[in-house]
Amino acid sequence: MKKYWWQDAIIYQIYVRSFNDSNADGIGDIPGIIEKIAYLKSLHVNTLWISPHYDSPMDDNGYDVRDFFKVAEEYGTLEDFKSLIKVAHDHDMKIITDLVLNHTSDEHPWFIAAKDPAHPDHKKYHDYYIWHTGFKNDAGEPERPTRWISWFGGSVWDYNSPTESYYLHIFSKKMPDLNWRNKAMREELKSMIQWWVDLGIDGFRIDASNHLEKNWEFPDDEPGYQHFSSLPKHHDYLQELADELFIPNNLLIIGEAGGASKQEALQYAGFESNEFNMLIHFGHVWVDVDDSNRLTPGKWAKGEVHLSRIKSALKHWIDIFHEKGWNTLYWHNHDHPRVVSHYGNDAPEHRVASAKMLATLLYGLPGTPIIYQGEEIGMTNVDYTELSDFKDVEVFTEYDNFMRHGASHEVAMQALRDRARDNARSPMQWTNEPFAGFSTVSPWMPVVQNYSTINVQAAQKDDHSILAWYQMLMQWRKDEAIGFSYPTFYQLDRDDRFAYSLKGQSHAYYIVGNFTDQPLDWDADVDLESMRLFASNTQTSEDALAPYETRIYQSL
Ligand code: GLC
Ligand code: CA
Repeated sequence: MKKYWWQDAIIYQIYVRSFNDSNADGIGDIPGIIEKIAYLKSLHVNTLWISPHYDSPMDDNGYDVRDFFKVAEEYGTLEDFKSLIKVAHDHDMKIITDLVLNHTSDEHPWFIAAKDPAHPDHKKYHDYYIWHTGFKNDAGEPERPTRWISWFGGSVWDYNSPTESYYLHIFSKKMPDLNWRNKAMREELKSMIQWWVDLGIDGFRIDASNHLEKNWEFPDDEPGYQHFSSLPKHHDYLQELADELFIPNNLLIIGEAGGASKQEALQYAGFESNEFNMLIHFGHVWVDVDDSNRLTPGKWAKGEVHLSRIKSALKHWIDIFHEKGWNTLYWHNHDHPRVVSHYGNDAPEHRVASAKMLATLLYGLPGTPIIYQGEEIGMTNVDYTELSDFKDVEVFTEYDNFMRHGASHEVAMQALRDRARDNARSPMQWTNEPFAGFSTVSPWMPVVQNYSTINVQAAQKDDHSILAWYQMLMQWRKDEAIGFSYPTFYQLDRDDRFAYSLKGQSHAYYIVGNFTDQPLDWDADVDLESMRLFASNTQTSEDALAPYETRIYQSL
């Protein structure tokens, strides 16, 4: 049943800046990753996804690329990167990197030429980006072409006086969008991709892949997302990349496209289509948004978590790809809060149980797991008290937004601690030494104070740690080819517990979990007479499920 190597892969996402600092400058780096390969092996990981490692002014931690052919100096050298590829391959691990194709840094030589009419290459590069003259108001001052809002808050347009025009940026103003209608630009990106493939990269995670095409009529809507998201023509660009690069080089391609419909999802990642092999879709990531919150609106509005919504989102994607494509299993990435804080319970008495319960709910399902760094030890959201502790460019535009909506500083800070992307980006907690063993000097971003108990070293010494549970689950997935299964029973309703059944290679399984902080009376949905308890995250043997208890039963 296995057709492709990545179908039973276990992927681990590394956010380089926060993973491991090898040279005491407070910033994670490539040699730091190499140091941890053995650790990743112990987790049964066989594929690494490395978040952007390219030269960058780091406005968005590397998603703003200045030079596609250079490794960010603070992360190491190209030689270091080649060593990483070699060491990974020597350990039977594949490497995929982030590929940022929607925009560059405003410090990229293309943009420097594009924005300056006096630059010798201006003519060529101007059209690599998206420009609009805007309008003049009654006082003769320039006005923005549209009210479109950037994903990081604020307008998508910024004025460039030398050209007397606006450039489009759907993320930060230091990340101008590329014009994918320009063939010469596409050709340059394609040769860059081939260059990395020739170095030994096994695939890519395509950043912001559904934004490549824009509505060039520029209708004046607010926020206008539909004019720069999922427009039909972006599939042509992806297909071109697939035909010329992805398929001939046999790459693993994971696309990022929020909000895809069933039809679009199959167009991206169905077996019949080849744009991607897998899709990151965010279906289950923000199921707890409180639409009535006017102070910190959108994803920032924390509402009640309904387990039934998470379960149906997960099932929705399983069903879309069932027999027609391939599913990805992930709780979150570097753009979301930590799952144990978000959907579990990070209070000391519940953190371990709830993290294991969440892992069981997800990793008993079909597809390929993508574990995000620190998830496997139950790292929590940040505990920051100062706005300046946060580093994400998005935080600062959004903080101003909250203030404009009338939020107090405290309300805004709480929204950040609950929802900001920085929650997933604090330094990896390796040991209980100063700076969590991430570095020997103060890191670029503060470590979360709970590192003295929540760290890899402590987890490795404890047979009942979250890490040990992850190791068990990943081994079980491999042994039983869980990724190829399909739930034979799946309970959709109920916010207090989850339950489903599946068939592994040698046994049938029934999984149940308590999603609440209270004991839960429980009747099995299947006949347990013919099953035995295979794994449980608590030591109790009561009939009632303990708070956040999860159990895996195995057929005899
Ligand atoms: C993707 C990345 C995110 C980044 C954005 C712009 O959504 O995951 O971190 O800020 O694209 O590149
Ligand atoms: Ca470093």
